[in-house]
Amino acid sequence: MSVLINGKELADKLQEQTKREVRELEKQKIRPGLVVLIVGDNPASQIYVKNKSLAAERIGIYSKEQHYSADITEDELIKEIQIFNQNDDFHGILVQLPLPEHINADRVLLEINPIKDVDGFHPMNLGRLLAGVPHTIPCTPYGIMKMFEAYNIDLTGKRAVILGRSNIVGKPMGILMLAKDATVTYAHSKTENLIEVCREADILVVAIGQGHFVTKEFIKPGAVVIDVGMNRNESGKLIGDVKFDEVEPLTSYITPVPRGVGPMTITMLMQQTVEACRRQKFGE
Ligand code: GUN
Repeated sequence: MSVLINGKELADKLQEQTKREVRELEKQKIRPGLVVLIVGDNPASQIYVKNKSLAAERIGIYSKEQHYSADITEDELIKEIQIFNQNDDFHGILVQLPLPEHINADRVLLEINPIKDVDGFHPMNLGRLLAGVPHTIPCTPYGIMKMFEAYNIDLTGKRAVILGRSNIVGKPMGILMLAKDATVTYAHSKTENLIEVCREADILVVAIGQGHFVTKEFIKPGAVVIDVGMNRNESGKLIGDVKFDEVEPLTSYITPVPRGVGPMTITMLMQQTVEACRRQKFGE
């Protein structure tokens, strides 16, 4: 029988812990602050940003949404980041992705002071992760590691296949799983015999961004399946990258969409904002 990994429940529990940490800081008259920069009016991004603000409010983190029109130039956006780098009210700076095509996201992310980079996307933080001395870690893969921990899913010696190779999810996911002694394979759109490769996975993490891409043929019986996908189907319903109904019976553990990975991403963002605050205040 398959166990449903309840991301929402775990997220609520971890957010309570973060809330307690915020209260402790309050006693010292310190309030962690997070600014979220959003460019243009991508509807999905608007929802993600709203959810981040709501979580911050719940936890007691001071948060600000900074909206810019889609025609802001790269240099103007960089100037904005530089201003927030200098602003001591904000310990975390997040630039919501994707950015419009005329803006080079790599160049923009490079401008965030790494100590305020609560997304863990700055090359300095990605490099620290690769070297095994992480500060901030990309929130989605970090949240997934917390799920493995909470459900006692041991990665040692396990064959992990990661479907997707973005800097945000796939690449850091592999590094984190490798650090826990998994045998990691990165699979992607150019992988030959993709179904066979996935079917070797004891743990399959799917972050390919295509609704219902993974069907039962991809699954080794007893596998753990983690679905990072957030897609809308024709009727506007939120669906994952995994065809849950037919895959679930084959798995030992599986995450749903919604209430799976999504709430964990926000939770790790909140936690890392508090950690960034402590690092800036106390050099921890
Ligand atoms: N767009 C989709 N996921 C994320 C995320 O985790 N952080 C940021 N900044 N943008 C995103």
